[in-house]
Amino acid sequence: MNILGIETSCDETSAAIVKDGRKTISLTISSQVKEHELYGGVVPEIASRRHIENINKVILECFKRSNSSLSDIDGVAVTFSPGLIGSLLVGVNFAKGFCFATKKPLIAVNHLKAHIAANYLCHEDLSPPFLGLIISGGHTIIVNVLNYCDFKVIGKTLDDSVGEAYDKIGRALNLPYPAGALIDKLAKKGDETKFKFPKPKVSGSQFNFSFSGIKTAVLNTINKEKQNNNEILVEDFAASFQDVVSKIICEKIFLAIKKYYAKKLVIAGGVAANSRIRKDLTNLCYMNNVKIYLPELKYCSDNAAMVASQGFFEFENGNIEKDFSLNAVANSLF
Ligand code: KG4
Ligand code: ZN
Repeated sequence: MNILGIETSCDETSAAIVKDGRKTISLTISSQVKEHELYGGVVPEIASRRHIENINKVILECFKRSNSSLSDIDGVAVTFSPGLIGSLLVGVNFAKGFCFATKKPLIAVNHLKAHIAANYLCHEDLSPPFLGLIISGGHTIIVNVLNYCDFKVIGKTLDDSVGEAYDKIGRALNLPYPAGALIDKLAKKGDETKFKFPKPKVSGSQFNFSFSGIKTAVLNTINKEKQNNNEILVEDFAASFQDVVSKIICEKIFLAIKKYYAKKLVIAGGVAANSRIRKDLTNLCYMNNVKIYLPELKYCSDNAAMVASQGFFEFENGNIEKDFSLNAVANSLF
């Protein structure tokens, strides 16, 4: 069964055709990142306008690249939540029009579930139940994936997401947006012991996160260094920040593994591309006899193949839209 996936939740317009939720037949991504870089973050109004301009081209290119035609498609999966509302609406409306015209089934996909599903494209043996960690520009969540479509949140950030923290610190260090990948690279040349940033105390569930305190501590240290006319060693800041972030993530995951007797851990989202976090979590899992699943780097950031993959499992589960009343939702979790 081939599912056409459509993703427009943030600043990537993407289309993909995926077979049986596991094999990418075609994937097209048009990124607006260069344009948003000028503003140091995604400008929602610009993002929706670009999606409108790009979506037809991206879908056509996706069919063309794989030599596919409409008759090859068994259903259309679209991201409907969470994300920027104006951006989501472009994909949702396109998918509704497409399904109305072609009489194909319409499948609503949650973007966070789709990030997890990116792993089904890379690991054919992977199946729920497992413990999931979603670390992206918008979210930081530990989730119990009970089944392909059944997710239970066990911890989340109470303020900034980990990706947001990377991007804000990047801005303070005068790095281009988004800064995550560059901080990762610079950290390799830095001294992680140079600065000690505090691990935050977090209220509520022991699995919750907080990154705004670390962000403030890093910003204060940068300012102090500037006031003392010290050279800002970007590499040392990058390494010290990444060190504490990775340690916090590993501590929470260790607790979750123990509490839920997890045997498998699945990592997802843009920050899942981070080399230090990948290495530390791989070691943690090895020490605790847990099998770790990491997405290929090309599937960490937003793409429609992961949406098509999740769409396949939603379809299998009978989660097909009954009419065309589907709307976009900005901020639901699962
Ligand atoms: O999942 P994603 O593409 O978009 C959302 O759904 O939010 O994640 C984007 C985030 C950005 O904050 C970016 O700085 C971060 O992922 N990122 C990284 C790395 N590559 C991308 N953060 C840390 N290390 C990386 N290698
Ligand atoms: Zn995302």
